[in-house]
Amino acid sequence: MAWDALYSSAFESVKGRIGRVGKVLLAYNTNIDAVKYLDGRDLEGRIEKTGKDEVLRYAEELPGRIESVPQLLGSILWSVKRGKAAELFVESCSTRFYMRGWGWDELRMGGQVGIMANLLGGVYGVPVIAHVPQLSRLQAGLFKDGPIYVPKLEGGKVKLVHPRNFGGDEESCIHYIYEFPRGFRVFDFQAPRENRFIGATDDYNTNVYIRPEFHEHFEEIAESASLAVVSGLQALTEENYRGPLETLREHLEVLGERGIPVHLEFAFTQDETVRKAIMDLLGLFHGVGLNEVELASIMEVMGEKGLAEKLLAHDPVDPIAVTEAMLKLAGRTGVKRIHFHTYGYYLALTDYKGEFVRDALLFAALAAAAKAKLGDVRSIDDVVRAMDVPVNVKAKPVEEALSKEYGMKDGIAEVNGYQLAFVPTKIVVRPKSTVGIGDTISSSAFVGEFALR
Ligand code: AMP
Ligand code: GLC
Repeated sequence: MAWDALYSSAFESVKGRIGRVGKVLLAYNTNIDAVKYLDGRDLEGRIEKTGKDEVLRYAEELPGRIESVPQLLGSILWSVKRGKAAELFVESCSTRFYMRGWGWDELRMGGQVGIMANLLGGVYGVPVIAHVPQLSRLQAGLFKDGPIYVPKLEGGKVKLVHPRNFGGDEESCIHYIYEFPRGFRVFDFQAPRENRFIGATDDYNTNVYIRPEFHEHFEEIAESASLAVVSGLQALTEENYRGPLETLREHLEVLGERGIPVHLEFAFTQDETVRKAIMDLLGLFHGVGLNEVELASIMEVMGEKGLAEKLLAHDPVDPIAVTEAMLKLAGRTGVKRIHFHTYGYYLALTDYKGEFVRDALLFAALAAAAKAKLGDVRSIDDVVRAMDVPVNVKAKPVEEALSKEYGMKDGIAEVNGYQLAFVPTKIVVRPKSTVGIGDTISSSAFVGEFALR
């Protein structure tokens, strides 16, 4: 079957109907990404100067949080060595000051909410209401033009204004993104694939600070929404998770009473207690989006260690193990839609049926390829410019395994009463940057699905 033909018809259908999606509420994390493209020589010099032996210790095992410059440089090396993404909170002021002095090449919108707000509102023209924990002038300036709103209290009433018209002069929440390409070298280390290390010098998003407007006027804010996306819970710890998750539960109840479907963008959550607590709330969501590392981490807290290991054992990830894990997660929590994405293919397990689920995944894969290729997607027509990126050949055996096991046809099968949708993705060989591709995939697929219903 010709995937390219399915890709182009999915794009046309979503493009034609995306205007029908109502307002999307996005909560809770928005920040500024200060992106630094690493230079091998510069990094080696800094490591030598700081003390190579100490730095190398942290390249073996990540610290829980960053309290010194050697920990920062060691954590960057940890990511480079494995080609894996990691994110840590930077606690020490002197390390924050060091990072500021090291500088950046680009300032970009960051945080799942910020990235999704710019994509949905600024590119697709879908109106969004965003939670921005701190609105500094720098932060406000990173929002694109378009129907992007933040709530502002005026005379006790909520008014929706564009972030640049909020008039905020609050703090800047900065995350330093240290990006490296595939093959990047430092000493004897070489990165097996492109990725990044993130150091968050931000006390608001890392604690899931929720603004007073959202505490006190949530019902009014949610009134005009048709869909919602929740993200940013990943940095919570055993010490600070109770308050934010209690507020989240209240917000989910308000949204549930109004029949507003909510998507959870799950990100890698180090703390097991927090991971379990999030799982206990999953039944209140319509759906969840995750990658293989995140799905494996959930299987671990569900006591499915064998399955967790299987999810991390192969490249590309074994789709039968993924399907088993998704069935277990859906069975345990009652969540209606699970969207799994990995390097090379996506799967969606839904308790409802229809080709629109697969077509929304295709639209999302095209958007992801456009983001990887161009760095910034400026208009919905930029998305179609990724049509020339070839469909990943490694996804062929994945598709064959799914056909053999579940009788999958044209990317759709029925498994245990659920629908399983599959798409092979387009992989850009030399992506401009890796940050925000996951957010592009999840928000495009979720909103695309509701556009096509
Ligand atoms: P996350 O793992 O949440 O950061 O999301 C990353 C996702 O982006 C992966 O699961 C891939 O599906 C996708 N992705 C990563 N690199 C590329 C690339 N070069 N081209 C297209 N998609 C990519
Ligand atoms: C996390 C990071 C943020 C980054 C985002 C990309 O939320 O904290 O800096 O922009 O991931 O997905």
